[in-house]
Amino acid sequence: MHLNYFAARVAGCLILGASLPAQAQEIDGTTLFNDNCAVCHAEGGTGNPGFAPPLNRPAFWQAMDAPTDYVAAVVIAGLHGTMTVDGQMYAGLRMPPLPQIEDAELAAIATYVAGELGETEADATVESVAAVRAELPDNAALMAARPAE
Ligand code: HEC
Repeated sequence: MHLNYFAARVAGCLILGASLPAQAQEIDGTTLFNDNCAVCHAEGGTGNPGFAPPLNRPAFWQAMDAPTDYVAAVVIAGLHGTMTVDGQMYAGLRMPPLPQIEDAELAAIATYVAGELGETEADATVESVAAVRAELPDNAALMAARPAE
């Protein structure tokens, strides 16, 4: 009887342990990107010509001082302006602000975009995203932060 109870507890812990990776997957940057961003930027951030720019541009991200902060700020505040990316002009478009994405999720997304797509050592954290959210740059500052391409 006691032994069975003990065995059940151990099994319960094992199941709990086994469910942890599944929880971690919920804040997987690739999945979150596909769910929140790919509708416009396409899976893998390859972009939609004339509609939403590609984000898989290592030279762009590597030329930035704080690439994950830029991603976080653009997502929270949105962005509008004219930009030319890979010879394609994106004019009069507006990325809608997505402030409802939580800090931990946005950290994973920013790390995916700047780190994986941008091939930088980017590692956004809940704290770095919260700091961006607390002092959001305005649209002009965001446009000015973009390195020339
Ligand atoms: C409804 C479509 C849409 C969605 C959804 C969207 N974006 Fe955008 N995004 C745009 C457009 C359009 C632009 C270009 C805005 C402009 O031309 O000023 C843009 C620009 C950007 C830029 C700036 C690129 C540069 O070259 O400076 C980043 C970074 C970005 N988006 C990241 C994201 C991320 C990350 C997500 C998901 C959390 C996301 N976007 C979701 C439409 C979208």
